[in-house]
Amino acid sequence: MEVLKEKILKDGNALDENILKVDSFINHQVDASLMQQIGNEFANHFKDYKITKVATIESSGIAPALMTAQALGVPMLILKKAPSSILNDNLLHTEVVSFTKKNSYELTLSKKFVNENDHVLIIDDFLANGEAATGAIRLMRKAHATIAGIGILIEKSFQPGRGKLEEQGFEVYSLARIAKLGKGIIEFVEES
Ligand code: G4P
Ligand code: NA
Ligand code: NA
Repeated sequence: MEVLKEKILKDGNALDENILKVDSFINHQVDASLMQQIGNEFANHFKDYKITKVATIESSGIAPALMTAQALGVPMLILKKAPSSILNDNLLHTEVVSFTKKNSYELTLSKKFVNENDHVLIIDDFLANGEAATGAIRLMRKAHATIAGIGILIEKSFQPGRGKLEEQGFEVYSLARIAKLGKGIIEFVEES
């Protein structure tokens, strides 16, 4: 998506070979107009997939997921991160380990909001190792829902996330695919 790639080049900040800061338009301050364009792009790409719900992981996925849900005319679901102590019988949960942040958390979903008739589109801001998306998929399976696909704003293509998801048979649609990062360096994957 050209407008997102231009924004990343203009306002993104590559800290090192692993981390891209996008605090001024995605992770802290949010560019609402860009999010709306992103929502329209995902909705257009997945329009024939019979999606019943758009799911994301709190917090940075919420803005683009909401815009996508709005454009598709379906509800958005927020998968919440919880300490295991608050788990109860009405919650499905699964552990997610983050390599980037070197921590882990329980990802949770209420049984009330998803069932076997749901066909769910998962949206997230970053795809790195694919652990968050894989956790979201595990939760949807526990709820007996099916996965329509995975929509990502920024894919770090030099990390294994896409490969892991494709290996399991899922479609990954990423709006910006980064081939290489370095201090002050941002290179996208060449697309034909
Ligand atoms: P993975 O799910 O693909 O395995 O990724 P990982 O656990 O490594 O990522 C953990 C958190 O770090 C996620 O945010 C993810 O969005 C974020 N992240 C990963 N790589 C980058 C990066 O290069 N730049 C930035 N800005 N963030 C990155 P989170 O902990 O779920 O928090 P939130 O932002 O959604 O609240
Ligand atoms: Na995220
Ligand atoms: Na994030």
